[in-house]
Amino acid sequence: MKTEFGDSLDFNGKQVLITGGTGSFGKRFVKTLLENFNPQRVVIYSRDELKQFDMANELSEHHKKLRFFIGDVRDGERLNIACRGIDYIIHAAAMKHVTIAEYNPFECIQTNVMGAEKVVMAAIQNKVKSVIALSTDKACSPINLYGASKLASDKIFVAAGHLAGGDGPTFAVVRYGNVVGSRGSIVPLFRKLIDDNCTELPITDPEMTRFWISLQQGVDFVCSCLNIMRGGEIFIPIIPSMRITDIVEAMAPGMATKIIGIRPGEKLHEMMFSKDDARSTLQLPDRYIIEPTLAMWTSDRSEIPGAVPVPKNFTYASDTNDQWLSSENLTNMIKDL
Ligand SMILES: NC(=O)c1ccc[n+]([C@@H]2O[C@H](COP(=O)([O-])OP(=O)(O)OC[C@H]3O[C@@H](n4cnc5c(N)ncnc54)[C@H](OP(=O)(O)O)[C@@H]3O)[C@@H](O)[C@H]2O)c1
Repeated sequence: MKTEFGDSLDFNGKQVLITGGTGSFGKRFVKTLLENFNPQRVVIYSRDELKQFDMANELSEHHKKLRFFIGDVRDGERLNIACRGIDYIIHAAAMKHVTIAEYNPFECIQTNVMGAEKVVMAAIQNKVKSVIALSTDKACSPINLYGASKLASDKIFVAAGHLAGGDGPTFAVVRYGNVVGSRGSIVPLFRKLIDDNCTELPITDPEMTRFWISLQQGVDFVCSCLNIMRGGEIFIPIIPSMRITDIVEAMAPGMATKIIGIRPGEKLHEMMFSKDDARSTLQLPDRYIIEPTLAMWTSDRSEIPGAVPVPKNFTYASDTNDQWLSSENLTNMIKDL
């Protein structure tokens, strides 16, 4: 499959497991896999039976290839059984709501951090080929527990090569920004308010900026990273930023806004990597790659064709980004949802 981020890994005949397979990312990933490849088996691993039941109904024509595994990423034994025979794991399960994580800190740590370790161990025990874990820009210089827990998770996956050894699975991370229209995000919130005939839309701060990516771009990026990963990388797509006020303009042109202030744990701008990460970061035309600073399980750190080191002290942040999404682009992305 060709994507805007280059060739996807070839999933034909492969056995794939996705944790959090019933979430926004997971559903689009599974759909993409089934529409473009002939995988041998796709395992959806998550907790809620109703979401799995609905997804099974939506994809009933593919039922022979799909396995719906009820399980928690905190449960290593269950993960171990689910990973039998699996070639590739996509780890998308997470607690991702900033304020919920602040209120329930240890729940967040158990799912996002301890769950990450359980996924690593199940992958090693089952001799999986490769694992990609999804991360977020909030993991860069985190100021909330969600971001901090994802940073810890990133560290677990980057270092997992040391546990796996030279012939074990390869592990890498994909980190990106806000997904347009994902569950609980600003676009569905605004959509509901507009449908309910609101007269003004709440915005946190008119200056606020975010990186934006569509669900399909997120899926395509992960598929392309699986194709080129060597282990230990954090892959970051080069994507545009947008101001919160531009979202209002795209969804309800001319509508009044009410400033409600930045919520606890929120940043005005997000960052994908800091100037301290820059020392180990490479740039390709469509992505940045933070290379592992400690990769003792492999000697293959040969040059990646076309990759160049980023300038000293460079940071990839949503306010200083040189690519911006127009209201028209966002309108089209929303139409695609
Ligand atoms: N959405 C964004 O804007 C965004 C941006 C950057 C990165 N990400 C990352 O992308 C990944 C996927 O996000 P998403 O938007 O698809 O999230 P989502 O829609 O909230 O889906 C989360 C999935 O994880 C499952 N899950 C949650 N806790 C679990 C547990 N303890 N054990 C097993 N499964 C569990 C959920 O199903 P059950 O509740 O039924 O278990 C659901 O299938 C996350 O890692 C997130 O941090 C998201």
